[in-house]
Amino acid sequence: MATSEDIQTLILTTLDTQGAIENTDSLKTADGNAIPYLAVVGVLNSLASKEMITYTTIERDQFNLTQEGNEIADSGSHEAKVFNAVDPVNGIAIAELAKLLGASAKIGQGKAFKNKWIKKDGDKLVREVESIVDQTQLDALEIRNTGTHSKPATLKDLQARKHVEKVKLISYKVAKGPKFALKIEKQATDLTAEMLADGSWKTQTFKKYNFAGNPPEGGHLHPLMKVREEFRKIFFELGFEEMPTNKYVESSFWNFDALFQPQQHPARDAHDTFFLLDPATSSNFPDKEYVQRVKEVHSHGGYGSIGYGYDWKIEEAEKLLLRTHTTSVSSNMLYRLAQETKARGSFKPAKFFSIDRVYRNETVDATHLAEFHQVEGVIADKNLTLGDLIGFMEIFFEKMGVPNIKFKPAFNPYTEPSMEIFSWHPGLEKWVELGNSGMFRPEMLEAMGLDPDVRVIAWGLGLERPTMIKYGLDNIRELLGHKVDLDMIQSNPACRLDKKMGKELVGKDAVDA
Ligand code: PHE
Repeated sequence: MATSEDIQTLILTTLDTQGAIENTDSLKTADGNAIPYLAVVGVLNSLASKEMITYTTIERDQFNLTQEGNEIADSGSHEAKVFNAVDPVNGIAIAELAKLLGASAKIGQGKAFKNKWIKKDGDKLVREVESIVDQTQLDALEIRNTGTHSKPATLKDLQARKHVEKVKLISYKVAKGPKFALKIEKQATDLTAEMLADGSWKTQTFKKYNFAGNPPEGGHLHPLMKVREEFRKIFFELGFEEMPTNKYVESSFWNFDALFQPQQHPARDAHDTFFLLDPATSSNFPDKEYVQRVKEVHSHGGYGSIGYGYDWKIEEAEKLLLRTHTTSVSSNMLYRLAQETKARGSFKPAKFFSIDRVYRNETVDATHLAEFHQVEGVIADKNLTLGDLIGFMEIFFEKMGVPNIKFKPAFNPYTEPSMEIFSWHPGLEKWVELGNSGMFRPEMLEAMGLDPDVRVIAWGLGLERPTMIKYGLDNIRELLGHKVDLDMIQSNPACRLDKKMGKELVGKDAVDA
C-alpha cells in the first residue's frame, strides 16, 4: 500500500512535470493501483494548508453493475440464455428448460417471447429467429467499461431492473500553490530567541495557527463606547490630546467658580446639581493666590471686567458635587497650561478633548437621563478669533459627517461670545441644536494666569444623541440602565461616523437633545 508520503511525492512530482492534475483519479501508484480516496484527501489538505497546492473538488455520478448485472455482462442475459437453450431443430420441452436454467428460465422466457426470439409449439419452445444480438449483455458491458451508458433511458431501465446502481464519486483537480516545491519544508511552530538572534526567522516558514472553536462571547463594546471611539479618532486625527477625565466628583470651584459662573447661578441649585453629603466639601485647592484671584474677579472684577459685584464665599466653592459638565476638566487643564507656561517662560498652543460622563439632577424622560456623556474640545492659542471657532466647527462637524451647520448667539457664564450649533433636520423641517460653543472669558483665563492674548475656543456636544440615531434607538432607556438588551450590545456593528452618519444625524429620526 502507498504511504501518505508516497502519495505526497506522487502528487508533487506529477504537478512538477505536468503543471496541474486534471483529476486525481488518474493518479496511480508505482505498481499501477488506484489511490484510496481518503488518502488523497488527507494529503491534499495538508499540502493546501502549507499553500503548496490549491485544489477544487470534482463531483460526478458513476454507474456500477450490481451482482446480477455482472452475471449478465459475463454470461449473457436471462433471455439470451433461454434462446441458446432452445435447440435450433428440435426446440426444448418447457419442463426441461426450467430444469436446465433454474430462475433464469422464468425471467428469460417472457423477454424472449416479447423479443419474438422464441414461440410456443405444444409443450415445447421453438426458435423463431436464427440468431440474436444480446443487447442487454452489450449494455451491461458498456456500463462496466465506461461507468455510464450512452442512452439515459437504458440506464434508467437497468437501474429499475436492479442491474445497475448509481454512486457519487469525488475526485480533485489540483494546481500548484504559491509556495509550491518538490520537498516539504519543516514548518516551525514557535518563533524562538535563536531565530531572532541568527536572523533565520526571515526565511523560516511557520505552521499556521488553527483557530478552530467558538468565538468568545465576552468583551462587547457598548454602542456609546463605539461612537466614543469614532469621536476619539476624529480628535486624534486633528492633533488633539485627551484630557484625564477620571474625576466624577469635583469641587464646585472647578465645576463653576473657576469658570466665572456666579455662586447664585441657578445651575448651582440642588435642583440642578447633585451635591455630595459625605464628604460634602473639599478645600484641596491648587494655590491660594489663584483662589484669591477668582474671589476678586467674581466680587469686584478685573481684566477689563466689572465682575458680578457679590461677596464670593470659599465655602460655596468647597462644596463637592458630581460634575455637571466636562468643562470642569477643561478648566483644570487650562489652569495647568497657565502653570506650565509660567514655568517654561513661554506659551505653547494646546488642543485638548474629553469624552466622559456628567450628571444633572434632571427629570428623566425618553431622551434625558440624570447622567450622560459629553464630547468636549478646547483649543488654546494666541489671538484666536470667533472666525477661528466658526471655521473649526465647520471642519469638526464636517468630519462627523454633518455639513452646513449654522450658529446662533447664546449665553454661557464662561464664554463670550457663545454660539449654539445647529444643523438642518429635513424630517422635522427645522434646525436642531447639535452643540454649544464659545470663547472662554478673560475673567476665567487671566485669573488662571494666562496672558491676555491667549484665547481659548471650546465646544461641547452630547454623545447619546448621535449614538441613538446611529443605532436606531428612540428611548434613552434602551441605551442605558436595566432595560438594555444585551443582544443589542453584542450584535451591533462597529460605528463609523461617515458621510452617511451625517445624513442620519440630520435625518428624520433625529431627536432633540
Ligand atoms: N459645558 C457646556 C455644556 O455643558 C458645553 C460647552 C463647552 C460650551 C465648552 C462652551 C464651551 O453644555
